[in-house]
Amino acid sequence: MEKCLLLGNGGREAVLAEYISKGYKLYTVCPYENPTIIEMVNKSYGKYIIADPFDKKIVADFIKENEIEVCLISSDNLLQDGLIDVARELGLKTFGPTSKGAKIEWSKTYALEIVEKLAPEMIIKNYNITDVNQLKSIIDKYEDDSFVVKPEGLTGGKGVKVGGIHFKGKEEGFEYAKSCLETSGNVIIQDKIEGREFTVMALTDGENIVVTPITFDYPYRFDEDKGPGTGGMGCLSFKDGMLPFLEKKDVDECAKLIKNTLKYINKDSIEFNGVIYGGFFKTKNGIKFIEFNARFGDPEALNVLNSLETPFTEVMENIFNKTLNTNNCKFKNNYTFTVYIVTKEYAIENRKEPLVFTMNKDKIQEQGVKVYFANTKNIEGNIYSSVSNSRLFGLTASGETLEEARKKVYNSMKGNIDKKLDYRKDIGNIYEH
Ligand code: GLY
Repeated sequence: MEKCLLLGNGGREAVLAEYISKGYKLYTVCPYENPTIIEMVNKSYGKYIIADPFDKKIVADFIKENEIEVCLISSDNLLQDGLIDVARELGLKTFGPTSKGAKIEWSKTYALEIVEKLAPEMIIKNYNITDVNQLKSIIDKYEDDSFVVKPEGLTGGKGVKVGGIHFKGKEEGFEYAKSCLETSGNVIIQDKIEGREFTVMALTDGENIVVTPITFDYPYRFDEDKGPGTGGMGCLSFKDGMLPFLEKKDVDECAKLIKNTLKYINKDSIEFNGVIYGGFFKTKNGIKFIEFNARFGDPEALNVLNSLETPFTEVMENIFNKTLNTNNCKFKNNYTFTVYIVTKEYAIENRKEPLVFTMNKDKIQEQGVKVYFANTKNIEGNIYSSVSNSRLFGLTASGETLEEARKKVYNSMKGNIDKKLDYRKDIGNIYEH
């Protein structure tokens, strides 16, 4: 069995660890022992070391010492930092873009430039601002706070702020935009539009794409989409791979943009394979582009990998061989449902001390629900501790109906997760917002 290096330590990497370890021996360099990832390393007779995965020398030495053949990375910062480039230089088969390929995610202006060329009708009116006077005059032109402030670099889903929701009034919007400008030298101001947000993710070998089931993410911290933006509090996908408010032509339009974008990025050499993620809005004036990510979404990966019918490691091989198509990358016909469990402070304030909590993983799993650890480590038995201020663990179930999958997840929590923990109670009520 070949050896595969996975870098990254979130819930997305936990589900990737599960599926990679079905066909490869799993290896990782990790900052702490994520219980799911370590379980999969051990089950597949792989190996891990506790070290900084951003340290290129440590990673390169680990690859060489263990004669690792394959590498998968799906974490934005690791991709931006060029960890795939390190694996490629050592001759590994890689899943994930080079740092240059990942620029569609780490530079919002670059992504907008590409879409402006390839599909100008999908662009929402925007301004790339590089000085404070220009910022002031652009914001002054708006009648009220109906604009969106987008920082240039990676922000883990927490940087984009929408007028009327995340800031109130032009002055507050200006102050936030000014702070973004000071951090990175530019900031994007975009018109606020009405519509429904959705994600189209595609697996790609660099040329061919296969669109995964469309997912609906719940980015806001509290029920009814209140509170700040987060990495994602929950996610669902439908049986036919579509969402109720979308038509096939909508998805085809997004897929066309994704395919043309890949062609554009890979025009000189293959910089991009793995997953390309497009965030879109369906509006009364058509589909509008929001952003690209160069990786699986998190929690979206928990839903999509649980709806793959083809073994994921076969999909990986088809990506390496550039033979990916819809016959060798198939999805099940089911609903999937994910809820992320977090601390009460998550996305509101930083905890000073780690949170120690209990959770009965076996009792949850007995009910047909999968547990994917993220920023959590095991202390002993059912006692765990948070390792940062990010999400703690995700719970995912599948079903013949959305209600079945939803009930499985929410019912499994009863008596099995600590009252100190928090989560959204309204995941799945998509018709209501
Ligand atoms: N859930 C959104 C993201 O992964 O960026």
